Amino acid sequence: MSELESAIIVENLIKHFFIRHHGYSIKGALMGGVKRAVKGKSVEELHALKGISFTVPHGQTLAVIGWNGSGKSTLLGILARVYKPTSGRATLFNRSGGKARLAPLLALEAGFHPELSGLENIYFYGSLLGLSRAELAAREEEIVAFAELGAKIDTQMHSWNDGAKLRLGFSIAIHTDPDIILVDEVLAVGDEAFQNKCFRRIRELQTLGKTIVFVSHDLAVVEKVATRVIWLNQGVIEQDGTAHEVLPLYRNAAQVVALIAPD
Ligand SMILES: Nc1ncnc2c1ncn2[C@@H]1O[C@H](COP(=O)(O)OP(=O)(O)O)[C@@H](O)[C@H]1O
Ligand SMILES: [Mg+2]
Repeated sequence: MSELESAIIVENLIKHFFIRHHGYSIKGALMGGVKRAVKGKSVEELHALKGISFTVPHGQTLAVIGWNGSGKSTLLGILARVYKPTSGRATLFNRSGGKARLAPLLALEAGFHPELSGLENIYFYGSLLGLSRAELAAREEEIVAFAELGAKIDTQMHSWNDGAKLRLGFSIAIHTDPDIILVDEVLAVGDEAFQNKCFRRIRELQTLGKTIVFVSHDLAVVEKVATRVIWLNQGVIEQDGTAHEVLPLYRNAAQVVALIAPD
């Protein structure tokens, strides 16, 4: 695949997190962390991504699935440039082979300032995403309408619940004319009506040829929406294929895990 056909090229991506401890960490040992003594303290090294590679063509809707701690959020964080890889790289392109405009929706608070109102945050978050004041002013009405927050839009965001933050975050992200949309599990906090509205909008973005990468534990949604599924397991790609190919294997493995370690 040439670069012009690729929206995302991930090459041998490795991410280690280093966590400082004063004492011994049982969780770290259990999670396979490597302990090292540094100046009398210990540093735990977590290998969140262990060298993964894949290419996403323009227009694909890729679902990333996997159990907790498998590296899904780390991968999206690197794609969104929130984290730097330890080694390897992720490059994101628009359809002309230039730098892609991203709409990341990774955490509900990311991009918002709690003391600003929802309306003010459209400008705050929008400018972080690279839009000018004039571009945002032109979209303001649509963003507010999609979020359906009523008078709440004029109140400070620190008092908002997660569902309300999601409404505004999603609405801003999809109205910024992005090339690539990155959505972590945040949609799960939405009420059903709003979730359905988001998925309808995701379908529209699909027909517009946008590239979408999303993380979801809802396999019914993955089945309906994704054109490709990557299953991450402990920082490596376990399977990469269509939902039809990957989901049965994932469901089987989940059953085996439940048998070995019932909760
Ligand atoms: N900011 C961070 N600092 C330290 N460790 C982290 C950080 N983010 C993730 N990790 C660790 O990296 C591993 C992968 O986490 P994550 O990418 O959040 O998995 P997932 O989203 O699949 O649940 C986990 O062991 C997690 O504890
Ligand atoms: Mg996660």
